[in-house]
Amino acid sequence: MSNVEDNPQLRPLIIDIGSDRFRMGWAGEDIPKTLAPSVYVDISDYIFTSGVIDGLDDIFIKGSTEKYLFGYDAIKYSNILKVHEFKKESNYNILALYFNHYYHKLEIFPEFKYKQPLIFIAPFFMTDVEKARLQYVFFNYFKFPTILFLSEVQAILSTMQKTSGVIVNIGETDSYISTVFHGFTNIMARDVFPIAGKEMTDYFLSMILSSRGSEKSLFIDKWIVKKIKEKSSICVANAKTELQHIKGGSKEYNQPINFPDGTTFEINKERFMVSEALFDPQIMKIIHVDYIGLAEAISKVIKTWDRENWEELLSNVILSGGSSLIPGLGERLRVELQKYFSEKLKNKIKVVAASGRENMGWIGASVLYSKNQLKKGWLNNPNLQDSNQKQIDETNSQNIN
Ligand SMILES: Nc1ncnc2c1ncn2[C@@H]1O[C@H](COP(=O)(O)OP(=O)(O)OP(=O)(O)O)[C@@H](O)[C@H]1O
Ligand SMILES: [Mg+2]
Repeated sequence: MSNVEDNPQLRPLIIDIGSDRFRMGWAGEDIPKTLAPSVYVDISDYIFTSGVIDGLDDIFIKGSTEKYLFGYDAIKYSNILKVHEFKKESNYNILALYFNHYYHKLEIFPEFKYKQPLIFIAPFFMTDVEKARLQYVFFNYFKFPTILFLSEVQAILSTMQKTSGVIVNIGETDSYISTVFHGFTNIMARDVFPIAGKEMTDYFLSMILSSRGSEKSLFIDKWIVKKIKEKSSICVANAKTELQHIKGGSKEYNQPINFPDGTTFEINKERFMVSEALFDPQIMKIIHVDYIGLAEAISKVIKTWDRENWEELLSNVILSGGSSLIPGLGERLRVELQKYFSEKLKNKIKVVAASGRENMGWIGASVLYSKNQLKKGWLNNPNLQDSNQKQIDETNSQNIN
């Protein structure tokens, strides 16, 4: 990495392969250059059988040289083609094609193609098998020189310039609580939380469908529901009170939703009930999850540490992940957490909901790189080492001859 300063195209690329978003960009920058849905479509894989709509084959198959479309290009056809999530499917062949598609958009000069060090954001429960597969793809298909797997927790904490804190990440499929105290962690001091954005989208859809009853059968695309959820969901202080207000005729939460097919209807309680799924074990049961609420889960993780450490941890509860963007969530979590701690500690609780928290792992990695703190843990491409070694051996043997 010695010539990095001379050549910005040889800076490391930071990559966060989320189930919802693929993030890629240059280390040292503020935000990822590429932010795209982690999905693809096969252009011959219709939702309905081919031939139902005349001319589809002409549009897709004959008009295209590509077999797959990626990211936003894929979403555009979600009403006609089956949308696949490559992370969920563990489809590394598609991941390679997807990556290459977006890598080309970075407009890297031919002589620098596939020469950048790669930093992968590693969720804290990433398995060794997943790491090995990524290494295989990026070392063998593309021949990148070096890879660093950087813990997402470490990256997130670095954005706060602190060495102690509780990281609460609520993403699409990953939700977890992880604690770090003065740079240390232990396997007891973390938890996987079973509800993330995907479960909230499903719950949101089931509420919409059940409130419509049988009056109208609705075909609602999952992507559209997700977008509506993102635009309309909020978190209130007390859902029971708000439900009473709505029953009493309050229109405060009414919001009209317009679907692309021309259907319109109004939602209200769905907007705040969706985030209740994080706090209320009764709702969790409805969506087939048997667990304690988020605040209790966080308190249990904090309490695995010695009592004298709780205050420091509670004063730095950091929200991250796309689902943590729900307005009001930080304040609600702070109040809910108070239920599990003494009077003295209650006032010390601070929940940090920083802007940009939906990309916090990526941003944290970029911060660490800028501070020159990513020196250790790099894995070198063994194939390149072998070929370098072979070259050296050949030169040596020529010299001997
Ligand atoms: N304003 C919002 N309100 C509610 N949910 C939101 C909002 N913005 C994004 N989301 C949800 O956040 C989730 C995506 O979160 P995030 O981008 O952290 O996931 P990811 O990193 O791609 O996936 P992973 O779970 O694998 O880490 C989606 O379910 C999305 O609907
Ligand atoms: Mg994520």
